[in-house]
Amino acid sequence: AEKDPAGTTPLAGALAPEQGLQSGEFLTTAEGLRIGDTDHSLKAGPRGPSLLEDFHLREKITHFDHERIPERVVHARGAAAHGVFKAYGSAASVTKARFLAEEGKETPVFVRFSTVLGSRGSADTVRDVRGFAVKFYTDEGNVDLVGNNMPVFFIQDGIKFPDIIHAGKPHPDREIPQAQSAHDTFWDFVSLHTEATHHVMWAMSDRGIPRSYRTMEGFGVHTFRLVDADGGTHLVKFHWKPVAGVHSLVWEEAQLAAGTDPDFHRRDLADGIDAGAFFEYELGVQVFPDSDEETFEGIDLLDPTKIVPEELAPVQPLGLLTLNRNPDNYFAETEQVAFHTGHLVPGIEITNDPLMQARMFSYLDTQLTRLGGPNFAQLPINRPHAPVNDNLRDGMHQAVVHRGIAPYLPNSLAGTEGPRPEGGYVQVPRLVEGPKVRANPVSFDDHFSQATMFYASMSGIEKVHLIEAFTFELGKVYEQPIRERMLTVLAEVDTDLCAQVAAGLGLPAPQGTPATDVRPSPALSQITGVPGPIA
Ligand code: HEM
Repeated sequence: AEKDPAGTTPLAGALAPEQGLQSGEFLTTAEGLRIGDTDHSLKAGPRGPSLLEDFHLREKITHFDHERIPERVVHARGAAAHGVFKAYGSAASVTKARFLAEEGKETPVFVRFSTVLGSRGSADTVRDVRGFAVKFYTDEGNVDLVGNNMPVFFIQDGIKFPDIIHAGKPHPDREIPQAQSAHDTFWDFVSLHTEATHHVMWAMSDRGIPRSYRTMEGFGVHTFRLVDADGGTHLVKFHWKPVAGVHSLVWEEAQLAAGTDPDFHRRDLADGIDAGAFFEYELGVQVFPDSDEETFEGIDLLDPTKIVPEELAPVQPLGLLTLNRNPDNYFAETEQVAFHTGHLVPGIEITNDPLMQARMFSYLDTQLTRLGGPNFAQLPINRPHAPVNDNLRDGMHQAVVHRGIAPYLPNSLAGTEGPRPEGGYVQVPRLVEGPKVRANPVSFDDHFSQATMFYASMSGIEKVHLIEAFTFELGKVYEQPIRERMLTVLAEVDTDLCAQVAAGLGLPAPQGTPATDVRPSPALSQITGVPGPIA
């Protein structure tokens, strides 16, 4: 960096040890002035009004007034831990990403678990999807695997994310219910929007109420493209397998915990780590041949509402994640961490999954607001553990004193020592072409087969729990037509499931042809000749 005329100072990962310890002998202002009395404001006499000139009062109150930042628009409630990822080396045959490919290589990580819909102060054990976001501080730059505890998603195209979230969040008028799917807007949307069915089945299953973050699986959901050292490519799906096994609460336990200890999961995470009972997960991949079709055994790998059964493609272990250290400060670390699906290193690429494509835009965009401008990569928790030598400059909360006069390329002032945009991350040059349309592949129209497969894979007691969950949640819906429409969706999944939920709700099981919302866009109709939208 010394010879870099652009003047970038490389940022190293950790907090400077002397910062934030609050260990000094004297209380000071933010400017370092010693303060003798922080309990009394400066007044015109002991009974008089406070004086505007009291800079200590004003600084103390002003800073307090601005302590809060916006909570995340989704996944607001979270808990996190530091740890280490150790690679087995088995990934070398499919990726050149060093943190995965080099046997025994250890990479620091920060992991944030979350619920999706509740606010920051909501309860841990509500029925919801859980986030499982992992930041790897690799020596090639940060990699974020921003996953969930369920392998599929409610929507196939990110353009519908605002719709599913608006439907799932508390009602706009009363802001209730908080973080539960027991409400009209959620069921209104998913009963009209049947591509959500598979994910709804997962959410209503025992997976929706995990016992502990220690016993929760994680999934990258989307298909990724891995690139090996010779340029060969494979398609993969990432899985986190908890070493302690997968366990859920039963509904009554979840209800009790939400009342008696709303911090049930975060307490368990922090206490477990404090006690030395570290949380462990094995990272693995399902590997599929790369092909123009991007399918495997007839399953469309670009459709995030579909899984590939492990019987068809076993999960191959790549390394072990151990969470072994609690954050020192919730705000500085858990709240300010910024994950982004676009944080990648050579050897890992995204695919054209239309849900993934929208995420590539959304994370950075939302963090510009949430973290107050473009420099949040400089926050200690977000700093890469690789040298940073960018030409990004200035902006709100700039913390780096850049030196030099040439933060641009090309320049003639850097000599041979300056930064060169060479090598590094280069996308595999795949051909992209097609008509400009708002349309999905026809395979995306299958909304039910995997929901049916998921139900068939369950044990008897798991089916009972699922039926009880549907009955409870739909029982909270005010609008009868929404309940009835959801029953027609369940009839598509399994007639017995539908009949049992209908009985629980005191409604007749739907007769005749079940409803369907296969609603191809007009553009798709023109291309394929399939019927247009249902009027
Ligand atoms: C946050 C996962 C789809 C937008 C998160 C977080 C996770 C996550 C785990 C929490 C990150 C944290 O702990 O800080 C997923 C998964 C998805 C998905 C697995 C689908 C498979 C989407 C889509 C969008 C989106 C389609 C938008 C088009 C966001 C936003 C945040 C977020 C805006 C808040 C980020 C922040 O403020 O830091 N997501 N998400 N997500 N996600 Fe997603």
